[in-house]
Amino acid sequence: MDDEAGYSPQIWAYLEPLVPSEDVQRINFYEPCKIQGVTLGRGAENDFVFAGGAVSNTHANIQWNGKCDQTSVVTLTDSSSNGTFIDGTKVEGTHQVFDGSIVCFGSKVPVIGQIPDHRYTFRHPYGRCKSESVFLHYTTGPPMGAGSHGYIFRVTERTTGRVWAMKTSRKNVKRSETIPCAGQEAMALMLLNHQNICKLHEVFFRVAGDLVDIILEFIDGITLQNLTISNNARTVVLNEDQVREIGFQTTSAIAYMHTEGISHGDLKPDNIMITHPKNGPPMIKVVDFGLSRSIGYPNAPPLFSRTSYSAPEAEDQLDQFKKTHIAPTIASSKCWDDWALGAVLYHLFTYNHPGQPIDMSLMSGRSAEAIALVSGLLAPNPVARTTAEGALLHPWLSGHRPYHIEFPLELFEPAPPGSVVPSMAADSEMQDADAPDFEMDDDAEVGPHVRARRAQVNTRRQGPRRFVKAAPRNLDGRPRKVT
Ligand SMILES: Nc1ncnc2c1ncn2[C@@H]1O[C@H](COP(=O)(O)OP(=O)(O)OP(=O)(O)O)[C@@H](O)[C@H]1O
Ligand SMILES: [Mg+2]
Repeated sequence: MDDEAGYSPQIWAYLEPLVPSEDVQRINFYEPCKIQGVTLGRGAENDFVFAGGAVSNTHANIQWNGKCDQTSVVTLTDSSSNGTFIDGTKVEGTHQVFDGSIVCFGSKVPVIGQIPDHRYTFRHPYGRCKSESVFLHYTTGPPMGAGSHGYIFRVTERTTGRVWAMKTSRKNVKRSETIPCAGQEAMALMLLNHQNICKLHEVFFRVAGDLVDIILEFIDGITLQNLTISNNARTVVLNEDQVREIGFQTTSAIAYMHTEGISHGDLKPDNIMITHPKNGPPMIKVVDFGLSRSIGYPNAPPLFSRTSYSAPEAEDQLDQFKKTHIAPTIASSKCWDDWALGAVLYHLFTYNHPGQPIDMSLMSGRSAEAIALVSGLLAPNPVARTTAEGALLHPWLSGHRPYHIEFPLELFEPAPPGSVVPSMAADSEMQDADAPDFEMDDDAEVGPHVRARRAQVNTRRQGPRRFVKAAPRNLDGRPRKVT
């Protein structure tokens, strides 16, 4: 007997007609069929015989791997002349089919005068979270960026018309760490709710298909990296009030995530966005939790991105992990974030990436409180290091009233193409070497910062190598061993 959800213990999936009729009824798939799969078509030899229409004699075969958990996979193989369509896409060979997918046999639209109408919703009770295709719910707009694991697209929710950002792992699923990173990002963001942290809207997990699509709040702004590149090209620098404003909001976000038991693990100007002031006071939004760690998942292998924002002790701790398989504690990865926060502030003040040893003389001219806080966050010994929570109580930040500092619009204008700031070259090279190629040719559809950044990347790729990657150094100034 079927339960309330329409499933019975013997039925592993069914096809619900979009337009039921005498000839087109619900098709239930029963367990004994799962091994060879079930065949559908007009011929009497099929497991399920379709009445007439545009359906072939042997039209399709649907197979299930028999797993009743999140690893369940159902595939459809098309063998027809007119085709089978899943969520509007014609199946070429074999295609995975998800709970909620619209499956059309013979035609994806009803053919006038043609009865019966073989369009169905596929229902399958197993599989992880929402297993429907993300494209059933969202239409994709222009890509806004690409990192080492995936693309970020601007998307529109079909039912509400609201604009969101979609981070998809589709670009680079072959990299072994892509899926854990995307999964970890989703897990961390599910636990966080703070105005200075990019909010999660929903997640589409496809464990079997190795895809994770994360729908995020759309941030109408630019990264701090882009903000400083633009300003450097114009030799305009942020004043101390503006740095304090960015620092306060960023510190609030980090202190909050740390009290929630989550470390970010990859803080740098590229992963901190600032909204465009044309819509009100700029808001900081911390993004990219792909390398985060959370108390709920303390055993997740610590992944590490080596940038000039990495804490000096992080590399040794990760070397230890490789030998002992004992992961650094969440507490130690929070200390990495505290260092990175200091390094980001140092960058905003000096427009230099904080190589090691850090040249604090570049901070001269800034207030004593600012210098003291940055020095405290950049304390080489993690035990003595100022924490993000502590920074909020520091005199430089404690009296700050956020969202009242002016940021002129011209600060947000893109740098002219090709204007790579020498002090940033080392870091940019590092990221680009790791990043997948991304070729997006419709420049008209992307924002000015993406165009400017792309022009920089292209200039570097086409021309001779213009910058030498800076060798990482230990605190004592000796070259650091890179494994
Ligand atoms: N929610 C968002 N809204 C608008 N743009 C975003 C959003 N999230 C990220 N971006 C843009 O996309 C870029 C890449 O995003 P993100 O840093 O999350 O991924 P990633 O760099 O691919 O990850 P990784 O650093 O692991 O390679 C960001 O630097 C930012 O420019
Ligand atoms: Mg990133």
